[in-house]
Amino acid sequence: MTTISQAREISAASRLENVRYAIRDLACVADEVIQQGHKVLPLNVGDPLNFDFQTPPHIIEAVAKAMRDGKNGYAPSPGIPEALEAIRGEAARKGITTVRDVFVTSGVSETVDLCLSALVNAGEDFLTPSPDYPLYSAVLCKLGIRLNAYDLNEEDEWQPELADIERKLTPRTRGIVLINPNNPTGSLCTREMLEQVAELARRHNLIVFSDEIYDKLILDGTPHLAFAAVAPDVPCVTFGGMSKNYLVPGWRIGWGIVSGDAAAVKAYTEGVHRLLRARLCANHPEQYAIKPALEGPQDHLVEVQRKLRSRRDLTQKWCEATPRVSCVAPRGAFYAYPRIDIPESDEVFVKELIRQKYVMVVHGSGFGQKPGTQHFRIVFLPDEATLTKAYAGIAEFIRERYGN
Ligand SMILES: Cc1ncc(COP(=O)(O)O)c(C=O)c1O
Repeated sequence: MTTISQAREISAASRLENVRYAIRDLACVADEVIQQGHKVLPLNVGDPLNFDFQTPPHIIEAVAKAMRDGKNGYAPSPGIPEALEAIRGEAARKGITTVRDVFVTSGVSETVDLCLSALVNAGEDFLTPSPDYPLYSAVLCKLGIRLNAYDLNEEDEWQPELADIERKLTPRTRGIVLINPNNPTGSLCTREMLEQVAELARRHNLIVFSDEIYDKLILDGTPHLAFAAVAPDVPCVTFGGMSKNYLVPGWRIGWGIVSGDAAAVKAYTEGVHRLLRARLCANHPEQYAIKPALEGPQDHLVEVQRKLRSRRDLTQKWCEATPRVSCVAPRGAFYAYPRIDIPESDEVFVKELIRQKYVMVVHGSGFGQKPGTQHFRIVFLPDEATLTKAYAGIAEFIRERYGN
C-alpha cells in the first residue's frame, strides 16, 4: 500500500526574509555556465587558499602535533590558556592598553554572532556600514533586530559618513560596527575618523565592534590603526582571526578582545561568557596554532603583501583605463569595489557578465549598497595572468553591452 504524504510545507522563519544571499544567487548562474562546459574565472571568493597562497607549515605542524598529543576533547569555553595569552600579546602589539577580556571563537563569524546576541534586545538597533559584510545584517535579522545602516562615503575614500551616523542614531542604538580594513571597499579608516567615531560613542554610550580581521594585509606601507588603541576608554570588542592573515579560513579560528573602561564593559563581558559556555568551545586542536602564528615567524606576510600589492596595482590600472569604470584605490585586504556607470542594475551586470564572459564578481547591491550608484566587488587574489584575462573579458563586456 502506498502512503500519500499529507505533510504541509515547513516554512522558514519570516525574520530571515532580509537575509541576503548574493553570492549564492550568483552560484546558480555560474552553475548554468559550467554545465554548458565553460570554465568560470572566480573573482568572487575571498579564500586565498583557492589561489597561489600557502599556509605557513609551522602552524600546520602545531595543529597536527596537538591532534597527535590527544588535544581532541573539548577545550575550555573561552579558549586554551596559551592562545589567550598570545592574543593578549597581540593586543599589546596593536597598541591596545585597556584589555579587559579575550576569548576564542569558531572564526570571526562566531565572534560577530556571539557579540551581537549578547548585546542587542528586541526594539534596539546596531549601526552597520553600507556597503557591508553581509554576515552582520544576517545575524541582526536572525535576532529580529531592525537593520540600521550608515553610509560609507565613496567621495571620501569610503570613510564612514559621520553626518549619516548622527542622523541614524536613535535613543535605542547600542553600538556601531567598523570594518577596518574594509570588505568590500578595501579602505582603511583614518586616525581622525576613528577619533570622531570614538567621540560619538562616548556621547551616546555606544560599544564599538571593530572588525580587524584583515589588519596584517595593509598594502600601502602605513601601519594599521586599531580603534581600541586610538580610544582606550571606549567600550570596544576588536575582532581578529586566523582565516586571512594566516591563510587558514577552513580552520575556523577567530577571537574577540574586549577593551575600554573596566566598569562599563563588565556586565556585557559576563553575558558574552554565558554564551561562550553554552556553545561549549571553539575548535580545540586548531587553537594550538594561535601562539606559533602570532609569535612565530611572519615571513609569509612579506610574500602575501608583495603579491597583493602587484595584483591591486594591476586592478587599479585596469579600472583607470576602462571606460565607465572608476575605483577608489584599495589600501588593505584583497578587495576592490569599482563603480560602474551603466543604465541598468549592478545585479543584471554581474549575472550577464557570468553568462557572457564567464567572469564572476559580486554586485554592490548584494552588499547592501544604497540605491543610486552601481558597483561590483572584485577579489584580486588570483594571479596576474588570470586577472588580466578576467579584466579583458569585463572590458569587452562593457564595450559590447553599453558602448564606450
Ligand atoms: C569583514 C569580515 N569579517 C569577518 C569575516 C569572517 O571571517 P572568519 O573566517 O574568521 O569567520 C570575513 C570573511 O570574509 C570578513 O570579510
